[in-house]
Amino acid sequence: MSVVTTKLLKGDLTTINVDAIVNAANSSLLGGGGVDGAIHKVGGPEILQACKIIIKEQGGCKTGEAVITTAGNLPAKKVIHTVGPIFEEDADVESQKHLLANCYLNSLRLAETHHLKSVSFPNISTGVYGFPKRLAAEVAIETVLNYQSTVVETVIFVCFDDENFQIYNNILK
Ligand code: APR
Repeated sequence: MSVVTTKLLKGDLTTINVDAIVNAANSSLLGGGGVDGAIHKVGGPEILQACKIIIKEQGGCKTGEAVITTAGNLPAKKVIHTVGPIFEEDADVESQKHLLANCYLNSLRLAETHHLKSVSFPNISTGVYGFPKRLAAEVAIETVLNYQSTVVETVIFVCFDDENFQIYNNILK
């Protein structure tokens, strides 16, 4: 078992050529805005078709859980869709951090069972879902750095905005 190698990039997740990119989806799995919108737009209708099969089989995807589909026209081989927590100011922070950690953990586990060696994550829940960026970054990095695997070798964090990039850069340095 070995610890994964992490890398940090600023850019667009849909351009990243890895085995799997991770989508910050919603529980319906029917697409949306943000990185979800970009993935479906670039990946094409095959992804939504695959999501609809999953919806038929298991309904949508619960917060903190993950499902896997084709990547369609994307450079990646697969898309792992996970649903981050919608941040609530007056709710318990630890339980929300735990749900967010599960997004990273369950995505990595899914990559492992599908023999995928490289995985790229966006900053899950830090856009529409309003999770504080620093807090989310700490959860993401801690979860990934604690993950031991015989399959997954590389995790690339892709930050779309400057603020997230600076936060990740400071923590990873
Ligand atoms: N590549 C990488 N990161 C991106 C991209 C992209 N093309 N587009 C947006 N992001 C970043 C945002 O800047 C943010 O830091 O992804 C992070 C997550 O933001 P959202 O995409 O809004 O995802 P999230 O906050 O998890 O909210 C999920 O938004 O798009 C809907 O259907 C989605 O309902 C779900 C909700």
